[in-house]
Amino acid sequence: MKFSPRKVRLKDEREVLLRHVAVSDAPRIIEFVQGFVYEEEFVPLSEGEFNPSIDEEEHILSNYIERSNSLFLVAEYEGKLVANINVDGNQRKILRHTAVFGMGMHKDWQGCGLGTAILQAAIDWGRANPELELLFLQVYAENLAGLTLYRKMGFAEHGRIPGFFKQNGRYHDEISMHLRLK
Ligand SMILES: CC(C)(COP(=O)(O)OP(=O)(O)OC[C@H]1O[C@@H](n2cnc3c(N)ncnc32)[C@H](O)[C@@H]1OP(=O)(O)O)[C@@H](O)C(=O)NCCC(=O)NCCS
Repeated sequence: MKFSPRKVRLKDEREVLLRHVAVSDAPRIIEFVQGFVYEEEFVPLSEGEFNPSIDEEEHILSNYIERSNSLFLVAEYEGKLVANINVDGNQRKILRHTAVFGMGMHKDWQGCGLGTAILQAAIDWGRANPELELLFLQVYAENLAGLTLYRKMGFAEHGRIPGFFKQNGRYHDEISMHLRLK
């Protein structure tokens, strides 16, 4: 099994299930992502841009399942998807030891330790993975919750691109961060 499902208790005592995504989750993933991304100021997606067909989403999810250096975890509460993290392992030989990741959740779930729990699970998985050595990410410089989480988990900043994001006529800086897994 790629990832053994586990329950984690959050700061507010709610218990969520962390598990690997399945191909059959495709319609629920589309609904879950569409349910929070457009409200998020720090996710670079505009209204209507995340609109895969179920077939396309199934194909994307099956890649995460089949690729040995990739992972896609979801958090479930009372049968509902509430958070995700996707670790996208590079498929080129020279870069197979690296993976970029993204994560997110609805506003209702932010700030109660879920980001810490799901990212820790992905880091632990990456440390045990024989191929992966380096995780990296891009984040809005104003995303205080994200920056606090990544710094707390040991990520180091290695770059900043001024004006990388251009949203509704406003520019936002990007910060690049990485974590050595071994
Ligand atoms: C960014 C995100 C993943 C963080 O996850 P989270 O579950 O909200 O974070 P946690 O509750 O685990 O908190 C992590 C740390 O950040 C701190 N933190 C949380 N929200 C914060 C905020 N708004 N401002 C400052 N610090 C914050 C917490 O106190 C915690 O530190 P502690 O354990 O020392 O107390 C989540 O808020 C999210 O999905 N946001 C929307 C999408 C997004 O920004 N994704 C990331 C794109 S790079």
